[in-house]
Amino acid sequence: MRIAVLPGDGIGPEVIGEAVRVMRHLRSDIDCVEALVGASAIRRALPPLPEETDALCRGSDAILFGSVGDPEFDDLPFAQRPEAALFALRHNYDLYANIRPVRVFPGLEEASSLRRELVAGLDLVVVRELTGGIYFSEPKSQGSDADGTRWAVDTMYYRAPEIERIARVAFELAARRRKRVTSVDKHNILATSRLWREVVNEVARAYPDVELIHLLVDNAAMQIVRRPRDFDVIVTENMFGDILSDEAAILSGSIGNLPSASLAYGLSDRTFGMYEPVGGTAPDIAGKCLANPTAAILSVALLLRYSFNDEATARRIEAAVDRVFAAGTRTRDLAGSRAFVGSREFTDEVLRCLEVPA
Ligand code: IPM
Ligand code: MG
Repeated sequence: MRIAVLPGDGIGPEVIGEAVRVMRHLRSDIDCVEALVGASAIRRALPPLPEETDALCRGSDAILFGSVGDPEFDDLPFAQRPEAALFALRHNYDLYANIRPVRVFPGLEEASSLRRELVAGLDLVVVRELTGGIYFSEPKSQGSDADGTRWAVDTMYYRAPEIERIARVAFELAARRRKRVTSVDKHNILATSRLWREVVNEVARAYPDVELIHLLVDNAAMQIVRRPRDFDVIVTENMFGDILSDEAAILSGSIGNLPSASLAYGLSDRTFGMYEPVGGTAPDIAGKCLANPTAAILSVALLLRYSFNDEATARRIEAAVDRVFAAGTRTRDLAGSRAFVGSREFTDEVLRCLEVPA
């Protein structure tokens, strides 16, 4: 059993380093093998996703990914930029089901951007379609007419099977939770959304116990900050999911708290997947050991749950993180004017709490 560990850039190496400590502590039987990705590969004159890294991923049971990006390379053509690695992995491994759980941890309510009474106990999941839609559809290009007028085009294209499989993931997940799916689209304007709604309604028939609600994306953006606790599972297409998952993320107080899973075979047993903190590279604090490792540590929990079928260890990690927050330990992003600890000390606390019986 092997995990490809791709720390990447910015705070990636710091938070993934902490997550790997937790992983090794709990499952020393799983090999963690590191490889280069993103700007850290480009600096060594390699492509953003080097062949060796790709081969390691192919030969592994799951990928633990940090983050990629570096302003230094922002002017390169897309295929040479660090972010291209992320797209290549999503595309090559067909990681279509992006699962982004958002929770407000007990004790952290004050850190939320919303009032405590709106968010206490919040627990929702965004299920984002990750390999289709406007991110990947062709044509996608920029050009100019003979008279010099510049133009650009992106295409949003969906086929019913792509919608069906992501909808299935959402319903399966909801069936294990509070049994409510909110499907988000722009049905009043977009053809892809009309197909989306049709297919989601068809899939819903197989899940009579799960309530299905449709929301237009603009309204959904409003309801997420108005009555966030009413949501259980939100399912939506790629770009809407990108936007709404950041909005939902901040309800938890910090994007540094948010893990994610990108799954190739939905929720099937031992699915192949890539697990990553949602927060990105955070260049302002990179290298200072200040980053919140929660998202990376909780990504390990998701990895064990979905790719290794190890629900017990996943829950142990989640419970330990809950305890660390409940005891008042905070990283800088969550501390406000209070005292805070670094990435390493925070993880020490998690490791300590893992040993406390539930
Ligand atoms: C995300 C990120 C990526 C995306 C960026 C880094 C390209 O925002 O995973 O949400 O837009 O998908
Ligand atoms: Mg995003």
